[in-house]
Amino acid sequence: MELFERLTRRAKENPRRIVLPEGTEQRNLEAADLILAEGLAEIILIGSEAEINEKAKDLNLANIHKATIVDPADPAVIDKYAPLFFELRKKKGISMEDARKTTAKVLYLGALMVKAGDADGMVSGAINTTGDVLRAAFQVIKTAPGIDTVSGAFLMILPKDSPYGSDGLMVFADCAVVPDPDAKQLAQIAVCSAKTAKEVAGIDPRVALLTFSTKGSAKHERVDKVIEATALAHEMDPSLQLDGELQADAAMVPVVASLKAPKSDIAGKANVLVFPSLEVGNIAYKLVQRLAGVQAVGPLLQGLAAPVSDLSRGCNAHDIYKTIIMTANQAIHEN
Ligand code: ACO
Repeated sequence: MELFERLTRRAKENPRRIVLPEGTEQRNLEAADLILAEGLAEIILIGSEAEINEKAKDLNLANIHKATIVDPADPAVIDKYAPLFFELRKKKGISMEDARKTTAKVLYLGALMVKAGDADGMVSGAINTTGDVLRAAFQVIKTAPGIDTVSGAFLMILPKDSPYGSDGLMVFADCAVVPDPDAKQLAQIAVCSAKTAKEVAGIDPRVALLTFSTKGSAKHERVDKVIEATALAHEMDPSLQLDGELQADAAMVPVVASLKAPKSDIAGKANVLVFPSLEVGNIAYKLVQRLAGVQAVGPLLQGLAAPVSDLSRGCNAHDIYKTIIMTANQAIHEN
């Protein structure tokens, strides 16, 4: 079964509550309408009820009435969530007045709804930047137990005849968040990526930590970082199928693996690639997407205490629809 067919079926069987902070925006409304029409999630739209209803009418969206609307201009909403934000950030020296102002910002309100247990996940970023979406998530939802670094993975949907990955899928990370991870952060990225591969892609993860050296072929402090990260990731989860340091060809191509890393259980069959920095990860996924006709889906934020997905500002309604389905699937695993 195709990835999205599988994810859609699961979302429908286990409907989750997804909050859309950019709830008055056209693409968000169109995506919400489709999700509600198909019963794939419960939708919470943040924004003015009058504006949402008027736009829904103009756009002929027949299902928006099924959404819950939360208006950030409603003092009762701010009264409900500002104390939670104040509690979370009081150590940073904020006042209750600051907390009320921040709570009225749609990204923070969405994150606070997730934190309060009133939503299971959040999808945003059609208008707001990645940095703004991430900061709201970091400050409010925070990280999952045992993790202090959030990262961003892409599901790479390979062409049908591709010999790589599993079931036509690979996971690439970090392609979106941590500019220059240290060994501990890289280890966490590896462990979280395995979780994403298992829970969202539905594949049995075989994780390779990549660099420009395979098993001692080059000496450099950046190679040392990847070796250390591999050891730390093993410590974090000894059951993981994971190896490093590997070059990309040794990680993926059996004949190269047999020459460069004959003792590795992962070399030649990796389906999760962990990149040593954001520069490499971000460039790699974009090159593979453009040059190899691979569909890149994401970024899926991993390592948060509850799922949040960041959209590209160039996204269309169908991208948002798919992201809501993926986020709902992440939420199924969190509960
Ligand atoms: N995981 C968890 N928490 C984090 C992380 C992280 N990776 N990074 C920062 N934080 C927390 C900090 O601990 C801090 O928490 P606190 O306020 O409670 O003390 C808070 O977030 C803000 O930290 P700053 O260091 O001030 O973070 P900053 O705002 O400088 O940047 C950001 C964070 C936005 C994620 C930054 O790392 C960034 O811009 N990354 C690149 C994002 C990007 O542009 N990606 C490429 C585009 S996406 C794409 O192409 C798919």
